[in-house]
Amino acid sequence: MNVQNVALKVVAGSVKQFPEDTLPEIAFVGKSNVGKSSLINSLLGRKSLARTSSAPGKTRTINWYEVDEQLFFVDLPGYGYAKVSKAEQLKWGKVIETYLHKRESLKLVLLLVDVRHAPGEGDQMMMQWLQHYGVPTLVVATKSDKIKRSQHDKQKKIIREVLGISKEDLLLYSSETKAGRDEVWQRILNMIQESVEEEMEADDQENSVTD
Ligand code: GTP
Ligand code: MG
Repeated sequence: MNVQNVALKVVAGSVKQFPEDTLPEIAFVGKSNVGKSSLINSLLGRKSLARTSSAPGKTRTINWYEVDEQLFFVDLPGYGYAKVSKAEQLKWGKVIETYLHKRESLKLVLLLVDVRHAPGEGDQMMMQWLQHYGVPTLVVATKSDKIKRSQHDKQKKIIREVLGISKEDLLLYSSETKAGRDEVWQRILNMIQESVEEEMEADDQENSVTD
């Protein structure tokens, strides 16, 4: 996938600031510091479009990046960062929930976990929540360059078991080496294609009713 044009289009600090639903959206969620912004940069082939930091809690707004006038990548603030006040965590919890639950144009959520660790409580809650609301989700285990190849299968199994997901719902990724880039792009494009087809079918049905 070769991306030509990307631009940060909208930065929202509250639900009121969300842009209108237009293009299909792919959202990136996960614990603070897991590598959401890095994944966005590496998928788009840009070094520092989305701001990253070794200090957790870098992304504090919802950011919409427009990709080739075709889709949006939506970078969400990470959860589970202890230094953020309870009040702010609560506020953000609600904003993120509203986004994930109500967003018509949301086609796929990429839930990121660190390949080195078993998913935590926050990850499990997020996964259950997404499943409950029927939001299509792909789990991406990040930082795969930080473990040996021989450990990949073992770590994948732990992640799958803790989150209760099947084999095809998990991919490994490294923003350092870009390993996994083609597979993740393929999933994103497949999902967008499927949603276009579903919309066309729905339109057909509507037309046949009115014919
Ligand atoms: P918040 O915005 O704070 O929620 O964090 P984030 O999930 O956006 O994480 P970010 O992309 O800022 O990355 C956090 C740190 O992990 C940075 O120091 C990155 O360089 C590093 N990092 C991210 N992905 C990878 C990876 O695949 N491999 C390695 N080795 N480091 C990574
Ligand atoms: Mg970030």
